[in-house]
Amino acid sequence: RNPLILDTDGGIDDAQALVMLLAHGVRPVAVTTVFGNVPLELATRNMQAVLALCEAAEIPVISGQSAPLSQPMVNATHVHGEDGLGGADIPADLPPIAGTDAVGFLREMISGQMEQGGKTDLLMIGPLTNLAVALTLDPGLASGIGQLTIMGGTVYGRGNTTPAAEFNIYADPEAADIVLRADIPTLIVPWEPCVSHFVDGAAMDLLFDGHADTPLGKFNKAIADRSRHVAVSYGGDDVFRFVDPFAAAVVIDPDLIRTTTDASSAVALAPGLTRGMTLVDPSRRLGTPPVTFIETGDVARLTEIYAASVRWHPSRQ
Ligand code: BDR
Ligand code: CA
Repeated sequence: RNPLILDTDGGIDDAQALVMLLAHGVRPVAVTTVFGNVPLELATRNMQAVLALCEAAEIPVISGQSAPLSQPMVNATHVHGEDGLGGADIPADLPPIAGTDAVGFLREMISGQMEQGGKTDLLMIGPLTNLAVALTLDPGLASGIGQLTIMGGTVYGRGNTTPAAEFNIYADPEAADIVLRADIPTLIVPWEPCVSHFVDGAAMDLLFDGHADTPLGKFNKAIADRSRHVAVSYGGDDVFRFVDPFAAAVVIDPDLIRTTTDASSAVALAPGLTRGMTLVDPSRRLGTPPVTFIETGDVARLTEIYAASVRWHPSRQ
Protein backbone atom coordinates (compact mmCIF):
# COMPACT_ATOMS: atom_id res chain seq x y z
CA ARG A 1 0.00 0.00 0.00
CA ASN A 2 1.22 3.58 -0.74
CA PRO A 3 1.68 5.92 2.22
CA LEU A 4 -1.71 7.48 3.06
CA ILE A 5 -2.44 11.03 4.21
CA LEU A 6 -5.82 11.70 5.82
CA ASP A 7 -7.06 15.27 5.21
CA THR A 8 -10.03 16.19 7.40
CA ASP A 9 -12.23 18.95 8.81
CA GLY A 10 -12.58 17.36 12.21
CA GLY A 11 -16.28 16.52 12.56
CA ILE A 12 -18.06 13.54 14.13
CA ASP A 13 -17.89 11.34 11.06
CA ASP A 14 -14.29 12.44 10.38
CA ALA A 15 -13.42 11.23 13.88
CA GLN A 16 -15.03 7.85 13.23
CA ALA A 17 -13.28 7.57 9.87
CA LEU A 18 -9.91 7.96 11.62
CA VAL A 19 -10.82 5.38 14.26
CA MET A 20 -11.81 3.00 11.47
CA LEU A 21 -8.53 3.36 9.62
CA LEU A 22 -6.50 2.72 12.77
CA ALA A 23 -8.70 -0.17 13.91
CA HIS A 24 -8.06 -1.85 10.57
CA GLY A 25 -4.32 -1.27 10.62
CA VAL A 26 -4.32 1.48 7.97
CA ARG A 27 -2.09 4.04 9.67
CA PRO A 28 -1.93 7.42 7.92
CA VAL A 29 1.61 8.85 7.72
CA ALA A 30 0.02 12.14 8.83
CA VAL A 31 -3.34 13.73 9.46
CA THR A 32 -3.71 17.15 7.83
CA THR A 33 -6.55 19.41 8.83
CA VAL A 34 -8.65 22.09 7.16
CA PHE A 35 -11.46 24.45 8.18
CA GLY A 36 -14.92 23.03 7.51
CA ASN A 37 -17.33 21.50 9.97
CA VAL A 38 -15.68 23.66 12.62
CA PRO A 39 -12.88 26.28 12.50
CA LEU A 40 -9.37 24.96 11.83
CA GLU A 41 -8.16 25.03 15.45
CA LEU A 42 -11.04 22.84 16.59
CA ALA A 43 -10.73 20.47 13.62
CA THR A 44 -7.05 20.05 14.50
CA ARG A 45 -7.68 19.54 18.20
CA ASN A 46 -10.39 16.98 17.46
CA MET A 47 -8.09 14.85 15.33
CA GLN A 48 -5.39 15.01 17.99
CA ALA A 49 -7.97 13.88 20.51
CA VAL A 50 -8.96 10.91 18.35
CA LEU A 51 -5.32 9.89 17.95
CA ALA A 52 -4.84 10.12 21.73
CA LEU A 53 -7.93 7.97 22.35
CA CYS A 54 -6.58 5.47 19.82
CA GLU A 55 -3.14 5.46 21.48
CA ALA A 56 -1.66 6.71 18.21
CA ALA A 57 -0.46 10.17 19.27
CA GLU A 58 2.80 9.57 17.39
CA ILE A 59 0.98 10.11 14.08
CA PRO A 60 1.71 13.76 13.20
CA VAL A 61 -1.17 16.22 12.95
CA ILE A 62 -0.47 19.18 10.67
CA SER A 63 -2.95 22.01 10.36
CA GLY A 64 -3.62 23.61 7.01
CA GLN A 65 -5.87 26.16 5.35
CA SER A 66 -8.12 28.08 7.72
CA ALA A 67 -10.40 29.63 5.08
CA PRO A 68 -11.79 28.94 1.60
CA LEU A 69 -9.96 30.25 -1.49
CA SER A 70 -12.38 33.00 -2.43
CA GLN A 71 -15.60 33.02 -0.46
CA PRO A 72 -16.64 33.70 3.12
CA MET A 73 -16.36 30.86 5.67
CA VAL A 74 -19.17 28.45 6.32
CA ASN A 75 -19.36 25.77 9.00
CA ALA A 76 -21.58 22.84 10.00
CA THR A 77 -21.83 23.21 13.77
CA HIS A 78 -25.60 22.57 13.48
CA VAL A 79 -24.61 18.98 12.53
CA HIS A 80 -21.40 18.41 14.48
CA GLY A 81 -21.98 20.67 17.52
CA GLU A 82 -20.00 23.76 18.51
CA ASP A 83 -16.97 21.58 19.30
CA GLY A 84 -17.30 19.44 16.16
CA LEU A 85 -17.70 16.27 18.22
CA GLY A 86 -21.24 16.67 19.51
CA GLY A 87 -19.91 17.30 23.03
CA ALA A 88 -18.19 13.89 23.31
CA ASP A 89 -15.60 13.58 26.09
CA ILE A 90 -12.02 13.87 24.90
CA PRO A 91 -8.67 13.80 26.71
CA ALA A 92 -7.81 17.16 28.31
CA ASP A 93 -4.05 17.32 27.72
CA LEU A 94 -3.15 17.10 24.07
CA PRO A 95 0.42 17.40 22.77
CA PRO A 96 1.49 20.30 20.53
CA ILE A 97 0.80 19.66 16.85
CA ALA A 98 3.60 18.62 14.50
CA GLY A 99 3.21 21.57 12.14
CA THR A 100 0.98 24.27 10.70
CA ASP A 101 1.81 24.01 7.00
CA ALA A 102 -0.28 21.16 5.62
CA VAL A 103 0.20 22.44 2.07
CA GLY A 104 3.97 22.34 2.47
CA PHE A 105 3.74 18.88 3.97
CA LEU A 106 1.61 17.59 1.07
CA ARG A 107 4.11 18.98 -1.42
CA GLU A 108 7.13 17.52 0.39
CA MET A 109 5.57 14.14 1.00
CA ILE A 110 4.23 13.64 -2.52
CA SER A 111 7.33 14.96 -4.30
CA GLY A 112 9.63 13.06 -1.92
CA GLN A 113 7.86 9.82 -2.81
CA MET A 114 8.00 10.71 -6.52
CA GLU A 115 11.78 11.13 -6.31
CA GLN A 116 11.96 7.53 -5.10
CA GLY A 117 9.59 6.33 -7.82
CA GLY A 118 6.69 6.01 -5.38
CA LYS A 119 3.19 7.46 -5.02
CA THR A 120 1.14 8.83 -2.15
CA ASP A 121 -2.54 8.10 -1.49
CA LEU A 122 -4.89 10.74 -0.10
CA LEU A 123 -8.18 10.33 1.74
CA MET A 124 -9.95 13.71 1.84
CA ILE A 125 -13.09 14.07 3.95
CA GLY A 126 -13.41 17.83 4.27
CA PRO A 127 -13.21 20.85 1.94
CA LEU A 128 -10.48 20.29 -0.68
CA THR A 129 -8.58 23.50 0.00
CA ASN A 130 -5.23 22.06 1.15
CA LEU A 131 -4.79 19.96 -1.97
CA ALA A 132 -6.07 22.72 -4.25
CA VAL A 133 -3.43 25.13 -2.95
CA ALA A 134 -0.71 22.47 -3.26
CA LEU A 135 -1.73 21.72 -6.87
CA THR A 136 -1.84 25.41 -7.76
CA LEU A 137 1.70 25.89 -6.47
CA ASP A 138 2.93 22.65 -8.01
CA PRO A 139 0.68 21.11 -10.72
CA GLY A 140 3.18 18.26 -11.17
CA LEU A 141 2.08 16.81 -7.85
CA ALA A 142 -0.96 15.30 -9.58
CA SER A 143 1.16 12.56 -11.11
CA GLY A 144 2.52 11.60 -7.67
CA ILE A 145 -0.90 10.76 -6.23
CA GLY A 146 -1.64 7.04 -6.49
CA GLN A 147 -5.26 7.15 -5.37
CA LEU A 148 -7.32 10.12 -4.21
CA THR A 149 -10.44 9.11 -2.30
CA ILE A 150 -12.90 11.91 -1.57
CA MET A 151 -16.11 12.09 0.41
CA GLY A 152 -17.86 14.96 -1.24
CA GLY A 153 -20.18 16.23 -3.91
CA THR A 154 -23.18 14.57 -5.45
CA VAL A 155 -23.65 12.24 -8.39
CA TYR A 156 -27.30 13.12 -9.16
CA GLY A 157 -27.24 16.74 -8.00
CA ARG A 158 -29.02 16.23 -4.69
CA GLY A 159 -27.14 18.20 -2.05
CA ASN A 160 -27.25 18.26 1.73
CA THR A 161 -26.20 21.86 2.34
CA THR A 162 -28.19 23.47 -0.45
CA PRO A 163 -30.60 21.64 -2.75
CA ALA A 164 -27.70 21.42 -5.24
CA ALA A 165 -24.51 21.26 -3.16
CA GLU A 166 -22.90 18.88 -0.69
CA PHE A 167 -21.05 20.46 2.25
CA ASN A 168 -17.41 19.66 1.42
CA ILE A 169 -17.78 21.16 -2.06
CA TYR A 170 -20.04 24.02 -0.97
CA ALA A 171 -17.49 25.03 1.69
CA ASP A 172 -14.88 25.77 -1.02
CA PRO A 173 -16.20 25.31 -4.58
CA GLU A 174 -13.12 26.85 -6.23
CA ALA A 175 -10.85 24.40 -4.42
CA ALA A 176 -12.99 21.42 -5.39
CA ASP A 177 -13.01 22.54 -9.02
CA ILE A 178 -9.20 22.73 -9.07
CA VAL A 179 -8.96 19.20 -7.68
CA LEU A 180 -11.52 17.77 -10.12
CA ARG A 181 -9.70 19.32 -13.07
CA ALA A 182 -6.36 17.74 -12.08
CA ASP A 183 -5.41 14.44 -13.66
CA ILE A 184 -5.47 12.23 -10.55
CA PRO A 185 -6.95 8.71 -10.16
CA THR A 186 -9.98 9.74 -8.10
CA LEU A 187 -12.69 7.79 -6.33
CA ILE A 188 -15.59 9.79 -4.94
CA VAL A 189 -18.14 8.82 -2.30
CA PRO A 190 -20.85 11.38 -3.09
CA TRP A 191 -23.73 12.34 -0.81
CA GLU A 192 -26.46 10.15 -2.33
CA PRO A 193 -24.96 6.76 -1.35
CA CYS A 194 -24.30 8.24 2.09
CA VAL A 195 -28.07 8.66 2.39
CA SER A 196 -28.91 5.17 1.13
CA HIS A 197 -26.30 3.20 3.11
CA PHE A 198 -26.99 3.14 6.86
CA VAL A 199 -27.45 1.05 9.99
CA ASP A 200 -30.85 1.34 11.68
CA GLY A 201 -31.12 2.47 15.30
CA ALA A 202 -32.00 -0.94 16.80
CA ALA A 203 -29.03 -2.57 15.08
CA MET A 204 -26.81 0.25 16.38
CA ASP A 205 -27.92 -0.40 19.97
CA LEU A 206 -27.04 -4.08 19.56
CA LEU A 207 -23.74 -3.21 17.97
CA PHE A 208 -22.67 -1.11 20.96
CA ASP A 209 -24.03 -3.50 23.59
CA GLY A 210 -21.09 -4.17 25.93
CA HIS A 211 -18.72 -2.03 23.86
CA ALA A 212 -19.20 1.47 25.27
CA ASP A 213 -17.31 1.28 28.55
CA THR A 214 -13.73 2.31 27.65
CA PRO A 215 -12.90 5.99 26.87
CA LEU A 216 -12.72 5.12 23.15
CA GLY A 217 -15.88 3.01 23.35
CA LYS A 218 -17.75 5.87 25.03
CA PHE A 219 -16.43 8.29 22.42
CA ASN A 220 -17.53 6.06 19.52
CA LYS A 221 -20.99 5.75 21.08
CA ALA A 222 -21.28 9.51 21.73
CA ILE A 223 -20.46 10.45 18.14
CA ALA A 224 -22.73 7.70 16.75
CA ASP A 225 -25.56 8.95 18.97
CA ARG A 226 -24.97 12.49 17.70
CA SER A 227 -25.20 11.24 14.12
CA ARG A 228 -28.48 9.41 14.85
CA HIS A 229 -29.82 12.50 16.61
CA VAL A 230 -29.00 14.64 13.55
CA ALA A 231 -30.79 12.18 11.23
CA VAL A 232 -33.93 12.39 13.38
CA SER A 233 -33.72 16.16 13.83
CA TYR A 234 -33.81 16.57 10.04
CA GLY A 235 -37.11 14.71 10.01
CA GLY A 236 -35.71 11.30 9.07
CA ASP A 237 -35.65 7.88 10.72
CA ASP A 238 -33.35 6.89 13.59
CA VAL A 239 -30.43 5.67 11.47
CA PHE A 240 -26.65 5.90 11.51
CA ARG A 241 -25.24 7.06 8.15
CA PHE A 242 -21.61 6.27 7.40
CA VAL A 243 -20.61 9.35 5.35
CA ASP A 244 -16.84 9.93 5.97
CA PRO A 245 -16.52 6.36 7.32
CA PHE A 246 -17.91 5.18 3.94
CA ALA A 247 -14.85 6.74 2.27
CA ALA A 248 -12.53 5.31 4.94
CA ALA A 249 -14.07 1.86 4.41
CA VAL A 250 -13.43 2.13 0.68
CA VAL A 251 -9.74 2.73 1.44
CA ILE A 252 -9.68 -0.19 3.89
CA ASP A 253 -11.47 -2.61 1.56
CA PRO A 254 -12.17 -1.47 -2.04
CA ASP A 255 -13.94 -4.79 -2.66
CA LEU A 256 -17.00 -3.41 -0.90
CA ILE A 257 -17.68 -1.16 -3.91
CA ARG A 258 -20.62 -2.46 -5.96
CA THR A 259 -21.62 0.00 -8.68
CA THR A 260 -19.90 3.12 -9.97
CA THR A 261 -20.17 5.77 -12.68
CA ASP A 262 -17.11 7.09 -14.48
CA ALA A 263 -17.57 10.68 -15.55
CA SER A 264 -15.79 13.93 -16.13
CA SER A 265 -16.67 16.37 -13.41
CA ALA A 266 -16.42 20.03 -12.45
CA VAL A 267 -18.04 22.37 -9.96
CA ALA A 268 -20.63 25.09 -10.68
CA LEU A 269 -18.99 28.32 -9.51
CA ALA A 270 -21.48 31.01 -10.52
CA PRO A 271 -23.35 32.71 -7.67
CA GLY A 272 -26.90 31.57 -7.07
CA LEU A 273 -28.84 28.39 -6.49
CA THR A 274 -26.38 26.05 -8.17
CA ARG A 275 -23.12 27.33 -6.62
CA GLY A 276 -21.12 24.37 -5.33
CA MET A 277 -23.06 21.80 -7.36
CA THR A 278 -21.01 18.89 -8.71
CA LEU A 279 -21.43 18.50 -12.47
CA VAL A 280 -21.21 14.84 -13.49
CA ASP A 281 -20.89 14.00 -17.18
CA PRO A 282 -20.49 10.34 -18.17
CA SER A 283 -20.25 11.41 -21.81
CA ARG A 284 -17.26 13.58 -20.87
CA ARG A 285 -18.22 16.84 -22.58
CA LEU A 286 -16.70 18.73 -19.65
CA GLY A 287 -13.29 17.67 -20.90
CA THR A 288 -11.94 17.09 -17.38
CA PRO A 289 -10.20 13.79 -16.60
CA PRO A 290 -12.79 11.15 -15.68
CA VAL A 291 -13.26 10.31 -12.00
CA THR A 292 -15.18 7.40 -10.47
CA PHE A 293 -18.34 8.07 -8.47
CA ILE A 294 -19.44 5.29 -6.15
CA GLU A 295 -23.17 4.67 -6.36
CA THR A 296 -23.61 1.55 -4.24
CA GLY A 297 -21.53 -0.54 -1.88
CA ASP A 298 -21.93 -3.71 0.15
CA VAL A 299 -23.75 -2.35 3.21
CA ALA A 300 -23.16 -5.56 5.20
CA ARG A 301 -19.41 -5.22 4.65
CA LEU A 302 -19.54 -1.51 5.49
CA THR A 303 -21.36 -2.33 8.72
CA GLU A 304 -18.84 -5.05 9.53
CA ILE A 305 -15.90 -2.66 9.05
CA TYR A 306 -17.64 -0.03 11.19
CA ALA A 307 -18.63 -2.56 13.90
CA ALA A 308 -15.06 -3.86 14.16
CA SER A 309 -13.90 -0.27 14.74
CA VAL A 310 -16.30 0.38 17.62
CA ARG A 311 -15.28 -2.92 19.25
CA TRP A 312 -11.57 -2.28 18.85
CA HIS A 313 -9.28 -1.89 21.86
CA PRO A 314 -6.05 -0.14 20.81
CA SER A 315 -3.99 -1.54 23.67
CA ARG A 316 -4.93 -5.10 22.74
CA GLN A 317 -3.68 -4.86 19.15
C1 BDR B 1 -19.51 15.97 4.75
O1 BDR B 1 -19.56 17.27 5.31
C2 BDR B 1 -19.20 17.20 6.67
O2 BDR B 1 -20.24 17.72 7.43
C3 BDR B 1 -19.02 15.76 7.02
O3 BDR B 1 -17.95 15.59 7.94
C4 BDR B 1 -18.75 15.10 5.72
O4 BDR B 1 -17.38 15.14 5.37
C5 BDR B 1 -20.91 15.51 4.47
O5 BDR B 1 -21.52 16.36 3.55
CA1 CA C 1 -15.77 15.71 7.06
